[in-house]
Amino acid sequence: MSQEEPVLIVRREGTVEHVVLNRPGVRNAFNRSLVAELHGWARRAASDRGVRAAVLTGAGKAFCAGADLAWMLATIAQPRHENVGDARELASMFESLDSLPFPLIARVQGPVLGGGTGLVAVCDIVIAAEHAVFGFTEVKLGLVPSVIAPYVLAKIGRSAARELFLTGARFDAARAHAIGLVHQVVPEGDLDATVSTHIREILGAGPEAIGAAKRLIGELWPLSMSDALEITSEVIASRRVSEEGQEGMKAFLEKRRPAWIVGEL
Ligand code: COA
Repeated sequence: MSQEEPVLIVRREGTVEHVVLNRPGVRNAFNRSLVAELHGWARRAASDRGVRAAVLTGAGKAFCAGADLAWMLATIAQPRHENVGDARELASMFESLDSLPFPLIARVQGPVLGGGTGLVAVCDIVIAAEHAVFGFTEVKLGLVPSVIAPYVLAKIGRSAARELFLTGARFDAARAHAIGLVHQVVPEGDLDATVSTHIREILGAGPEAIGAAKRLIGELWPLSMSDALEITSEVIASRRVSEEGQEGMKAFLEKRRPAWIVGEL
């Protein structure tokens, strides 16, 4: 009996999970099963305190060609509530990825289109190969970048979104960098080394502090300065008396490595 290829490959290296979208034949476009797998991974990883970072990439030529258009087309046969339910599941997957308590790094080795840009937008650090192409191509298909919009807007702002959502134009990695969708553009051969540099930085920092910093960014985003003040003072007051905060500050003053650094970095 032939065994089907998994649509998502997850490999653990120490405290880092490597997650590979594995539908290269359709350029890693996501269908219901890939959405379910990614969502399931995000839920599991979020509750695994042993995970300190994850790297998301695509198998083959593309990072992700967005939603599988055969899957999207087939929604015509679904009753409305099922169609909306599928879209909610997709939205909920993005939410789970966005709120992971550790850094999620995108290793972008090829095209990122439609919903694929949403995957990149929910990553904390995005490293792209020079030749990678991007696009919110939905309008070219008579669709709208909808469930990804909150995450993409938070990254690129309204001005770039108004141009790029409304034209569906494809753009290069340099432009993706300029609008804040990508943090670093490197030759393809340097992708892994660049990702490793970021992982070393992450493993040198307090894991709970990283989680708290990530939560804080999300919480402060919609708040006014005066509402933010309540939260920010609470957060630092808690962190500086926490076991991890105490350990980090003592380690610095005692000129030693903090306890959370395991082995060579
Ligand atoms: N959904 C379903 N199938 C897709 C797909 C998608 N989003 N994107 C690509 N594919 C399929 C193609 O139909 C093709 O299938 P085939 O081998 O049966 O002909 C296969 O993947 C390879 O695509 P191809 O265009 O030949 O590969 P490429 O490497 O030359 O180009 C892309 C890759 C991603 C640039 C190109 O496929 C593309 O532009 N895809 C559309 C992406 C898009 O607009 N997505 C938005 C979805 S909302």
